[in-house]
Amino acid sequence: MKKSFFFLITCCVVLTVAKAQVDIIQNIDARTIQNLDGRWHYIIDPYETGNNSFYKNMEQQFKSDLIEYDFAESPTLNVPGDWNSQNDQLLFYEGTVWYEHDLNVSLQQGKKYFLYFKAANYEAVVYVNGQKAGEHKGGFTPFQFNVTMLLHDGNNFVVVKVNNTRRKGSVPTENFDWWNYGGITGDVVLAVMPQIYISDYKIQLSKRDNKNINGFVQLEGHQPGQKITVRIPEANIRTTIVTNDSGYAVINIPAKNLHYWSPKHPILYDVFIESANDTVKEKIGFRTIETKGKDILLNGKSIFLRGICMHDEDPFIPGRPRNIAECRMMLLWAKELNCNFIRMAHYPHNESEARLSDSLGILLWEEVPVYWSIDWENPSTYDIAQQQLSELVARDKNRSSVIIWSIGNETPATDAREKFMEKLADHAHSLDNTRLVSAALLGHINNDTFHLDDRLGKKLDVVSFNEYIGWYVGLPNEMSKYKFKIDYDKPIIITETGGGALAGFHGDEATRFSEEFQKTIYKNQVKLFADIDGLRGTTPWILVDFRSPKRLNPAYQDYWNRKGLISETGQKKKAFYVLKAFYNEMEKKYSDK
Ligand code: GCU
Repeated sequence: MKKSFFFLITCCVVLTVAKAQVDIIQNIDARTIQNLDGRWHYIIDPYETGNNSFYKNMEQQFKSDLIEYDFAESPTLNVPGDWNSQNDQLLFYEGTVWYEHDLNVSLQQGKKYFLYFKAANYEAVVYVNGQKAGEHKGGFTPFQFNVTMLLHDGNNFVVVKVNNTRRKGSVPTENFDWWNYGGITGDVVLAVMPQIYISDYKIQLSKRDNKNINGFVQLEGHQPGQKITVRIPEANIRTTIVTNDSGYAVINIPAKNLHYWSPKHPILYDVFIESANDTVKEKIGFRTIETKGKDILLNGKSIFLRGICMHDEDPFIPGRPRNIAECRMMLLWAKELNCNFIRMAHYPHNESEARLSDSLGILLWEEVPVYWSIDWENPSTYDIAQQQLSELVARDKNRSSVIIWSIGNETPATDAREKFMEKLADHAHSLDNTRLVSAALLGHINNDTFHLDDRLGKKLDVVSFNEYIGWYVGLPNEMSKYKFKIDYDKPIIITETGGGALAGFHGDEATRFSEEFQKTIYKNQVKLFADIDGLRGTTPWILVDFRSPKRLNPAYQDYWNRKGLISETGQKKKAFYVLKAFYNEMEKKYSDK
């Protein structure tokens, strides 16, 4: 008796699929929502004068009243949109900006209301009708607040204090090589939910078993014994599962006739999740991703990741993408390069890009901004890093395009960092066992040998590193002397390489910032790639020139990092065609199946 009881317990534990402790409504755009995007009033408040008053949004009642702000008379900014690209005074601004927006709501009995933000950089404090709804730190992931008790039937107002000041203890910290775009950079919606609703779900193929769909559905509110139906009509799949005491139900469905998702065949299925009072329609592709020795297998077959790095910035109107067209433009540039893989650097990108990549057939590396040296020994720094990772995984865990979670970039190998990063790697693995975990590591050069022996590699499924031979190390015409020594029997991805060039500036291969200098680096990098045993992917730095407050050479840079293969005006540089030719070769060798 005792033995079989223990076995039962174990079963329950094993069957439970990991769930990030993050309360965001999955697939918000498929819900009943009131979109609050548009023009929001704003007040620039460098001295935080408004902390104890602006959230009340007071208006002058009597002519003697002293009120030293007035949202209604204040200018407006677009939401979603960073403030830097909308007002020249704010191009370099780092500090507090207050936003205000009026909204009319006809309250429905028995409904729950959530104010949902897709992203706001960096800290956001949210008030509804003068009452605090909540606050959030982290500039790139979604957050929501239950505002059911704060709303009035009819006119309401929302005030949001956003601050993008760089701080030692934040993630990223004070020093980074991209523009610190501030503001409400993602859509804002008011979600109208039934009392008991489907708050979260994960529906993916089991790791290493492409004949089984595994996952969970979470109902908001502890509703035991609730029936939930999961239907995938095109695959002739229909199953009914029942929630446990905490409203959680495990999915475990045999799936015999699925067409697997791949870059060549980005097949997405309509998936319906139905409970007594709620239904969500989702689009999901089914594929497996795993490593085997030094190989990466997609749907059980070896694949070469023909990649490129990308920042989340529209170069034409420099700023965070405001709409799906801007996101699509960047992804199509990568397709033009014959990429099947993109490294979304160095922070979670606009959610649309992962959904678009599902349908365009692009594999993704997604990353949290644990970048360079952060405050490793500060517990709240670890908490915010882990929170951002949990929020990212919660948001994109149903995306077939996403194959790798990255826990950071170029973090120096110290004991404190290792403790921090090992914990974060374990957290990533605990959140999602269907994908790979990695980080962009640093190596060191000894006697013309690039050596990678970073201890963090032991915690990662794929060992990835950045190397700038020919740009930061040596010159283009002396690259052939370099060798690589990688201390791991794992698949390898070169997550950054390359060099800068000002589009249209020409010279010989020794002229820095000329297209010829960059082209030569790429030609020689491609040769070096051939010598690296276990190289399963490359994501050179970077698809398109991007804004950086660290790039100050007036002639060649002028606040742009020029390592793009495409300029900020959309001009393709010579090196673009070198990498494209290499990827055409690699596609012949390892087709995407
Ligand atoms: C670093 C870093 C990037 C940076 C790039 C560069 O490796 O990861 O964020 O922009 O190199 O120097 O251009």
